[in-house]
Amino acid sequence: MAMKQLAVFASGTGSNFDAIMQAKQAGTLDAKVELVVCDRPGAPVIAKAEQAGVPVLVLRPKDFDGKALYEEHVLSACRAHDIDGIILAGYMRLIGPTLLASYQQRILNIHPSLLPAFPGKDAVGQALDKGVKMTGVTVHYVDDGMDTGPIIAQEAVPVADDDTKESLQAKIQAVEHRLYPEVIQSLSMKEESL
Ligand code: GAR
Repeated sequence: MAMKQLAVFASGTGSNFDAIMQAKQAGTLDAKVELVVCDRPGAPVIAKAEQAGVPVLVLRPKDFDGKALYEEHVLSACRAHDIDGIILAGYMRLIGPTLLASYQQRILNIHPSLLPAFPGKDAVGQALDKGVKMTGVTVHYVDDGMDTGPIIAQEAVPVADDDTKESLQAKIQAVEHRLYPEVIQSLSMKEESL
């Protein structure tokens, strides 16, 4: 199996980035993160990537004249780093046609709910507001919709009566940090996939 070269796209804390790096360190992930793309200057994931010695591209999309030009810039960086798979890890932005065309079936996202329930922002808060007894985590291929692409893996997380947003988020993230590296590893074993 060829070693796969990944870019992680993130906008926030970067705990999933950390989990992927730890899986690599532990020897349970063969693919390697060669680039982090962050669309939010100052996001904690930037320092995490720097500490891990991974090149980070920090961009403000509003500095570009439209989404296509922004994505062209990101695409050039991905090509320069020989990236063959993109891992969205808390990247709070829709992927546009420029990146989708070049990385068809090679962009993954993780979302903190059992999709198609609770897409978009604050999925954990949405689940609590609805009073569901079960929520979870979904890993899916990315298409042009908001958390809508074909589902690859899901894992349920029960909601306790006394769960707060913080406690439920912690349970969900514990699942994310195990599940995402596992899915990335199993896909990167397939020649035609990520
Ligand atoms: C994760 O829980 C991820 O599922 C969610 O953002 C968080 C990022 O955390 N993504 C979405 O809601 C995508 N719609 P992290 O920065 O600590 O990895």
